[in-house]
Amino acid sequence: MHTTVFSGAVVGIQGLVIEVEVDIARGIPAFSVVGLPNAAVRESRERVTAAVKNAGWQFPLERITVNLAPADVKKEGAAYDLAIAIGILLASGQAEATTMRTLFIGELALDGSLRKVPGVLPILLHARAQGFARAVVPLANLEETRVVEGVEVLACESLRAAVSVARASPDAEFDAAIDGRVVVKRAEDPVPPPRAPASSALDMADVVGQEAVKRALLLAAAGGHHVLMTGPPGAGKTMLARRFAGILPPLSSERAIETTMIYSIVGLLANGGLVTRAPFRAPHHSASDAGLIGGGGVPRPGEVTLAHNGVLFLDELPEFRRHVLETLREPLEEGSITISRARNAVTFPARFQLVAAMNPCSCVAFLQVAHYVPEARLPGGPQVIGRASEEATAGSGPFPEAGRSPVGNQPMVCSQLGDREDSSSGSLLPGSYSVSGLQPIP
Ligand SMILES: Nc1ncnc2c1ncn2[C@@H]1O[C@H](COP(=O)(O)OP(=O)(O)O)[C@@H](O)[C@H]1O
Ligand SMILES: [Mg+2]
Repeated sequence: MHTTVFSGAVVGIQGLVIEVEVDIARGIPAFSVVGLPNAAVRESRERVTAAVKNAGWQFPLERITVNLAPADVKKEGAAYDLAIAIGILLASGQAEATTMRTLFIGELALDGSLRKVPGVLPILLHARAQGFARAVVPLANLEETRVVEGVEVLACESLRAAVSVARASPDAEFDAAIDGRVVVKRAEDPVPPPRAPASSALDMADVVGQEAVKRALLLAAAGGHHVLMTGPPGAGKTMLARRFAGILPPLSSERAIETTMIYSIVGLLANGGLVTRAPFRAPHHSASDAGLIGGGGVPRPGEVTLAHNGVLFLDELPEFRRHVLETLREPLEEGSITISRARNAVTFPARFQLVAAMNPCSCVAFLQVAHYVPEARLPGGPQVIGRASEEATAGSGPFPEAGRSPVGNQPMVCSQLGDREDSSSGSLLPGSYSVSGLQPIP
């Protein structure tokens, strides 16, 4: 017997519908999964075998072949477990389905319950475009699916529940007592209005004085400008930067969905719902290039993509390895990052506001940093950036072009941090631009 069940995968940040073909033939009992599965997918054999038995069905002692199509896309993760198990139950005649145009996504536990999987939101958005109107997902993924209109989502607690919804007629009510828990989100259910973002724990009001810097940060937040802060240790750079996310406006609904999709893929959706606050990412300076821009056999988003529509904070900027900073060039200029592999290239969005902090110094690292600054864009022509600016603008660093051309399409605001009594230096107008030493508060 042969059957096809639909499931989904994520390539880059794009969802993809995967056909899970299951064939059961007479022969020596065997269970193989083909179609470029990685280790986690191959291991699904063990999970599916145990889950099918423990949920009360017979695991067929025949030759089972599972093919994941399209065969040229690498498959990873455990999200195909549910589709494989349903396929085996259908092909062995132990279950039936009223419609095959249903997506099955979920990882199986050995007792047959369903575990949360990453990437459900982009898969559903793609499936909807492909004409799928129904999806079965783990109960733990329900919240993020509420963002999608036009797809009926059946959130199930277990394999048993998933099988019972597969054979139920489209408008059936589910009996929780018999089938395990099923929560239905109807296709026409309205998208819940975004919850007001919870107030940030870190408040700009904690910062005493530094009015000029606060004003610069406010302008940068309003205008989406990059920010570089310099000043001696203890002057409050880190403190100010960490409070920057708190003064950013909430995300528009389009951006909120985009950001939620990214966080769905990496499995970082905290309470599952829509992300409404601009993300704030602060990778440590020991970050690798793959950590920063993304990477891996099946490319996964890095910090620049997690900071998309939000802030990437690089504290102690000169401490970052030079080639790691170099990788920031493409996202800063293009607003996206393309990761090429022999088989395919994946483009992740990466339009973020760069907030950087560093101690003033005239070392080589400073030259690197100074090159980020888009002088030509600013009114009044090239400005002086500390002591190193002349060498910097002479183009001897890794970012000679970036030094003269816009960073993204926004000028960078460099804040002038005076001491707390001195608010006279707070004359930063949009696009104005100056750097002096940040003085610690006595
Ligand atoms: N303007 C300020 N208002 C209140 N506390 C400050 C201020 N500036 C510095 N501090 C205190 O000094 C500490 C060190 O500041 P930090 O942001 O780590 O400095 P930097 O990053 O410039 O080295 C902060 O955690 C905070 O307690
Ligand atoms: Mg610091």
